[in-house]
Amino acid sequence: MALFVDDITYVYEKGTAMSVNALNHITVEIPDGQFIGLVGHTGSGKSTFVQMLNGLLAPTTGRILWNGQDIHEDGFDKKPLRAAVGLVFQYPEHQLFEADVLSDVKFGPRNLGLSEEECEKRAEEALLATGLPKEFWKASPFDLSGGQQRRAAIAGVLAMHPEVLILDEPTAGLDPKGRDEILDMVRDMKNHRKMTILLVSHSMDDVANYADRILVMNAGAIMMDGTPREVFERYRELEPIGLSAPQTVYILEYLKEHGLPVATDRLTVDEAAAEILRARKQRNV
Ligand SMILES: Nc1ncnc2c1ncn2[C@@H]1O[C@H](COP(=O)(O)OP(=O)(O)OP(=O)(O)O)[C@@H](O)[C@H]1O
Ligand SMILES: [Mg+2]
Repeated sequence: MALFVDDITYVYEKGTAMSVNALNHITVEIPDGQFIGLVGHTGSGKSTFVQMLNGLLAPTTGRILWNGQDIHEDGFDKKPLRAAVGLVFQYPEHQLFEADVLSDVKFGPRNLGLSEEECEKRAEEALLATGLPKEFWKASPFDLSGGQQRRAAIAGVLAMHPEVLILDEPTAGLDPKGRDEILDMVRDMKNHRKMTILLVSHSMDDVANYADRILVMNAGAIMMDGTPREVFERYRELEPIGLSAPQTVYILEYLKEHGLPVATDRLTVDEAAAEILRARKQRNV
């Protein structure tokens, strides 16, 4: 069931001297099954935007439609929406509160009124999917490392069996191995469980590697919306707003300037490596 964001604005502290226009007339469709990367510099409105999608924040003007229905209309039941559109917050430690990890992950399914047996089953499956070792399942969530807490928070959302999984900077502060593990797991959710993914990230390399579509936010608006290739073709426009192309684009540009006839629009390390080898071969024949 697709989400449709219909011309929304959002103002924090409306009507006070502190008011902030965080979202400015955003219209965007989030169809089923896409892996969308949402990028933008700090303060551009990413976290505000994603909190709109499961009804946590209500737009100041405009509508959010879920399966064609306005989620803030009188009589709309938000409970199924909250299960279907799962949000892993930017600071997942704020999301953990039970005495042990397993109970924390079971909290969501319990709230859905599922049997204890089903809650246990879902929690275990979700924890296995996130790769949090079993030895931590009975630990207090507050005794886990940041990376482990993040896995526990993601498991809590996965246990709800969401159709749309939204992750707000899930890899910030993780080492490269932890980052790849989490992103591979998210990709797996898309490919094997047919989830729609919205990944908020500061890393252009991550979104280039994983996303089918990229939304670029700037000053509360969507500035670009396209495939990774379409967006990064315009990378000169990204630089003034504090963003950049993936590293590979800069390396390929450098090589091209220095005489190697490479195409510069290769966005992943594997694609760039293949392009460099191809160009070297071509030059040597
Ligand atoms: N609770 C709040 N009260 C008032 N203003 C807020 C609040 N939360 C965010 N803002 C402001 O709204 C704007 C958008 O913030 P938001 O957190 O959505 O940006 P972001 O793109 O997620 O940033 P980051 O990359 O740092 O996480 C910013 O100007 C921010 O200062
Ligand atoms: Mg944010």
